[in-house]
Amino acid sequence: MKEGLVEVVLPGKVEPEGLRIRHGAVPAPGAGQVLIRMEATGVSFAEQQMRRGRYYDQPPYPFVPGYDLVGTVLATGEGVDPGLAGTRVAALLKVGGWASHVLVDAADVVPVPGGLRPAEAETVVVNGITAWQMLNRKARVRGGQTILVHGANGGVGSVLVQLALAAGVRVIGTASARHHDALRERGVLPIDYRTENVAVRVRELAPGGVDAVFDHVGGRGVVDSWRLLAPGGTLVSYGSASTRDDEGSKSWPVLKLLARTWLWNVLPNRRHAYFYNVWGGRALAKDRFRARLRADLTQVFAALQRGDITAQIAAELPLARVADALRLAESGTVAGKVVLNP
Ligand SMILES: NC(=O)c1ccc[n+]([C@@H]2O[C@H](COP(=O)([O-])OP(=O)(O)OC[C@H]3O[C@@H](n4cnc5c(N)ncnc54)[C@H](OP(=O)(O)O)[C@@H]3O)[C@@H](O)[C@H]2O)c1
Repeated sequence: MKEGLVEVVLPGKVEPEGLRIRHGAVPAPGAGQVLIRMEATGVSFAEQQMRRGRYYDQPPYPFVPGYDLVGTVLATGEGVDPGLAGTRVAALLKVGGWASHVLVDAADVVPVPGGLRPAEAETVVVNGITAWQMLNRKARVRGGQTILVHGANGGVGSVLVQLALAAGVRVIGTASARHHDALRERGVLPIDYRTENVAVRVRELAPGGVDAVFDHVGGRGVVDSWRLLAPGGTLVSYGSASTRDDEGSKSWPVLKLLARTWLWNVLPNRRHAYFYNVWGGRALAKDRFRARLRADLTQVFAALQRGDITAQIAAELPLARVADALRLAESGTVAGKVVLNP
């Protein structure tokens, strides 16, 4: 029987149940493209924002969401090495991953090493690239330093924490109390951001300040994050989770963070501040962006193979149950990534 295309469509601002399943014909790869049969995709924080119309860079509705995926190359287009067919690859997409078959530029796929299950590899695509680049390219954290990671149990946070611990870094992490035992077991010093005064607790644990703060919460709290830095320290702001449910402009919270971090960075204060964007540099230098992404994701996969990081899979659900998957990811009751499979 011929394979058909199954994809999930986000028609507009809807509750998870408003997502639609669409059937169609499997597309053929164009020049420079590969056709991937999806084996695992996932629910990212971005989709929680997109269904509310709150992701700063989302396309107009309707569209197929899905920030990243892992799958096997089924067919190659003109100009692409036909030897790629049959290999397992990962890709960072922003949208389009929630589908049984996906067309991707061959230059954008990264090989997944043998021995990793698709769902495991999936948990570290956007989360792993983000964590790796913030840690090693932005903050350049070294062994012996102390860092503060907000949302230490989240998708990005848990990878970042593990990469840092493996490098001999001391990690303070914020999370709801129910995640504290798991964090302690991992070697993290947990703080409950819901009930404790985070700034006071961090100063107790690191009286001289911390060498880096990773902040996806945004809003006013980012000022505290900045103030907690030791001389020479770096703030990496990378999200605005606290404004997910706000009304009004979806760009304004991010623009404010960009302006703040820019200003802090240029003022003479012996500290650094950046807003990290996983897509940064792509428009200006696509080849360089691709080379860096490939190198960094390859390092993350190697860390996963070595056991420096473990894949945290909250649940695995079929694509047809995407509404349940999104509800679960938004419930705040699970740790790790909700993975979708065909
Ligand atoms: N800039 C970029 O390029 C980039 C790339 C990837 C991701 N991101 C951002 O990274 C963030 C995390 O994404 P994810 O996929 O890892 O999400 P996730 O798995 O849902 O994790 C979110 C974490 O944030 C915590 N959290 C939620 N609201 C919070 C608040 N108001 N204050 C403090 N902590 C809060 C949650 O903790 P509890 O469960 O304990 O409540 C959870 O640990 C998102 O904001 C996303 O937009 C940015």
